[in-house]
Amino acid sequence: MRLSSRWTNPLIFGGTIGWGILLISCVVANRATLAPPKIAGATFVGTKECSQCHSDKTEHFGTATHSRLALSDPKVGDTGCEACHGPGSLHVQSGGARGTIVNPRRSPETCFQCHVDKRGQMSLPHSHPVLSGQASCADCHDPHKGEAIKGGGINLATANETCTACHTQQKGPFVFEHAAMREGCTACHNPHGSVNDKMLVARDDNLCLRCHLEVAGAGQIIAGGEDHASRLQRGTCWSAGCHESPHGSNANNHFRF
Ligand code: HEC
Ligand code: HEC
Ligand code: HEC
Ligand code: HEC
Ligand code: HEC
Ligand code: HEC
Ligand code: HEC
Repeated sequence: MRLSSRWTNPLIFGGTIGWGILLISCVVANRATLAPPKIAGATFVGTKECSQCHSDKTEHFGTATHSRLALSDPKVGDTGCEACHGPGSLHVQSGGARGTIVNPRRSPETCFQCHVDKRGQMSLPHSHPVLSGQASCADCHDPHKGEAIKGGGINLATANETCTACHTQQKGPFVFEHAAMREGCTACHNPHGSVNDKMLVARDDNLCLRCHLEVAGAGQIIAGGEDHASRLQRGTCWSAGCHESPHGSNANNHFRF
């Protein structure tokens, strides 16, 4: 049984507690709950069984964020795959018949069962169309290999590439690149959803002043060495005529267009 200290839960640690209790009870870590999907009539068979036919998925699973969940059943051992796909006995017995296992590509419900907060975020007025099925959690998250947040950890270039695979306009390279892009798209956008247009983390100049405010007070708002106090009364920093191309520009070093 694999265990990471971060997710160690006294209930799982003993290894003798069955699924019944796991399902009802535990809140693991601070943000996620453990509640694997249910499939009528099926029981857990363990990850070892899956490797017979899906070795491409089991091979690298040890490196995956979710393998550290270390959900365990006393009879069948590690059940990491079934945490998302549901109990696999009917699927295995039928040699992989259709409709015997959950595929979260088709619906985010599986993910919501443990990541309860994401359902709320995805329901905000501006979000990726995951609830309607036009996008999937798996577009940005890798369940089977490595960091669940694609390009997460140290490699920011890759994190941006996850987004620019679809949003090619923001990819660049730009002649004048906004250095903020090196902090990642999430410096300004919340990909799960926001009350603000374009999923922005703030709807007004606070979005930019967070990084750019040099002096505020005595009626002045200094950014980029210039007083913006009167300019900001005319609109957001990215309104027409100002920094209309916040991602970068090929024409102007102040990202005006
Ligand atoms: C006896 C072989 C076999 C075993 C064992 C097996 N599968 Fe499958 N599985 C298949 C076949 C065949 C398919 C359908 C063909 C395909 O898409 O690859 C499939 C498809 C799937 C799908 C996609 C289903 C869909 O509707 O899109 C998932 C998810 C899956 N398996 C997960 C698992 C998990 C988890 C385990 C272990 C609990 C497992 N499989 C064990 C043979 C197997
Ligand atoms: C964190 C949840 C999660 C875990 C854990 C997980 N999967 Fe998946 N699985 C998914 C999602 C999401 C998809 C859909 C991915 C996509 O379409 O890009 C998927 C798709 C699949 C498919 C469908 C075929 C395909 O390539 O799309 C198979 C087979 C599969 N998983 C097997 C496994 C096996 C075997 C394990 C354990 C080693 C496992 N999964 C663990 C979430 C998970
Ligand atoms: C059985 C419960 C369970 C299911 C189902 C589940 N997760 Fe998780 N997931 C967890 C736990 C527990 C953590 C780690 C807890 C934490 O640190 O917040 C986690 C962590 C993550 C992380 C953060 C990784 C990090 O580096 O911080 C992402 C992203 C994630 N899950 C996405 C998904 C997606 C997408 C799905 C559906 C395909 C899914 N999860 C299904 C339990 C689950
Ligand atoms: C458009 C891309 C995208 C989609 C779609 C997406 N995510 Fe994320 N997710 C991210 C990024 C990027 C991060 C890293 C957040 C950060 O760096 O601030 C993240 C972080 C997370 C985390 C860990 C941090 C946190 O906010 O708790 C979890 C859990 C998570 N996502 C779950 C999900 C689930 C579940 C879905 C589907 C319902 C989903 N995500 C859909 C891009 C996405
Ligand atoms: C699988 C493709 C895909 C990926 C990957 C993706 N997006 Fe999106 N994005 C979409 C779609 C589809 C829409 C909705 C477009 C619409 O409604 O017109 C969207 C909308 C947006 C919008 C709002 C656009 C508008 O005009 O309102 C922003 C901002 C955005 N995405 C940022 C991101 C970020 C940041 C990431 C990476 C964390 C990301 N996207 C990853 C497909 C994707
Ligand atoms: C410095 C803050 C910032 C960063 C970093 C950032 N954006 Fe934006 N983004 C914005 C603002 C502001 C808007 C709104 C522009 C408007 O409404 O004219 C926007 C709009 C968008 C749109 C909507 C299309 C459009 O041009 O209106 C998409 C898609 C988008 N951003 C994707 C991304 C992606 C992908 C990344 C990372 C590669 C990223 N953004 C990084 C600030 C940022
Ligand atoms: C995450 C931090 C961050 C955010 C948020 C941010 N920027 Fe920047 N921006 C930088 C950095 C770093 C530089 C390069 C160093 C400098 O000129 O201050 C820069 C440079 C600039 C420049 C070029 C300055 C010059 O003289 O070359 C402009 C214009 C600019 N940003 C506008 C904006 C606007 C508009 C927003 C909001 C949509 C914004 N920034 C949000 C970090 C940020």
